[in-house]
Amino acid sequence: MPQRVLVIGGMGAIGIWVVRELIERGEQVVVLDTQDQSPFLVDLNGRFEFVAGDITDLPHLVQVMRNRDIGHVIHLAAVLFQCDDNPPLGFSVNTMGTLNVLEAARAAAVARLVFTSAKAVYGQIRGEHAHPTYRPVTEDAPQAPDSIYGASKLAAERAGLHYARRFGVDFVALRLASLYGPGRLSRHGALAITSEMVERARAQQPMKVAQGGEQGEDILYTRDAARGIVCAAFAPTPRDRVFNISSGRPTSLHEFAGAVRGLYPDAEIDIGPGLDYWAMGKQYYSVLDSTRAREQLDFTPRFSLDAGIRDYVRILDALKAGRGLDQ
Ligand SMILES: NC(=O)c1ccc[n+]([C@@H]2O[C@H](COP(=O)([O-])OP(=O)(O)OC[C@H]3O[C@@H](n4cnc5c(N)ncnc54)[C@H](O)[C@@H]3O)[C@@H](O)[C@H]2O)c1
Repeated sequence: MPQRVLVIGGMGAIGIWVVRELIERGEQVVVLDTQDQSPFLVDLNGRFEFVAGDITDLPHLVQVMRNRDIGHVIHLAAVLFQCDDNPPLGFSVNTMGTLNVLEAARAAAVARLVFTSAKAVYGQIRGEHAHPTYRPVTEDAPQAPDSIYGASKLAAERAGLHYARRFGVDFVALRLASLYGPGRLSRHGALAITSEMVERARAQQPMKVAQGGEQGEDILYTRDAARGIVCAAFAPTPRDRVFNISSGRPTSLHEFAGAVRGLYPDAEIDIGPGLDYWAMGKQYYSVLDSTRAREQLDFTPRFSLDAGIRDYVRILDALKAGRGLDQ
């Protein structure tokens, strides 16, 4: 029997597209998550197995990986917003949870474990890497997270590298760029400004962002990120273990709005000038160098900005009409 792929956190905003991509490839998929459904997977009910589980439960993870003949693990489960107010939860899920996944992967001798890390491990971006030059940040750039989320992710990455060196676990960490796509707005609210812009334009609702029209950021369509994750799971022999998954170029918020207006010319989008559209007072905006992923994982984004926005709207329309989401 061919081995299965375990997608941990497969009901989340990125996981749903990873699951779809895997099923499209003909893989047998098992999803482990604390939440048992997503509207974006309803049309695939019965085509994957769902296991209710929590990554803080090591014995259960070992049991799932061993009993279901898991060959590859894609681990996306994390807490994001809760980290600031509840640091113990952040480290418990993002770091200790990942250690459990590593331990289980070692015990079950899986072929590869892909971990979704975050650009937050780089911390604030300054100098030539920031506006207006946006020199791409490579994977070897200094990692100085200044948030609990970033620190919890970096600790998990380092643990993964240790498991690779010490125990031979084939561990790959991916640092994802900022994303837009169906499913993000409902899960990531205020941070999902670009997703909100698309959804408001489609719903003929005005969109106002107080500042930041000139701010550039590396923005990737979620389905491209999912493909990058799947590429990493099956790439034959990557030399490195840490990869940026990104568009590799800056997109300003004005540019993004222009692409939305390309589809909805009458969209009421009002964006203030200047930088920092998240109004966090921190410079997290950057472009991630994508050379390593292109060369070793054979990953390049498939969706241009226009194509990504069109696909996003197509999926929301299909969901509303109760149609399958695949073209
Ligand atoms: N730019 C970036 O750096 C960036 C961007 C997006 C996502 N990411 C990373 O990608 C991954 C997926 O992100 P997302 O946007 O899909 O997040 P999400 O919150 O939408 O999905 C996470 C999923 O994990 C599940 N989960 C949470 N805690 C769990 C636990 N203890 N046990 C089992 N399942 C649990 C949730 O129910 C959810 O379905 C995360 O690891 C995130 O850190 C990084």
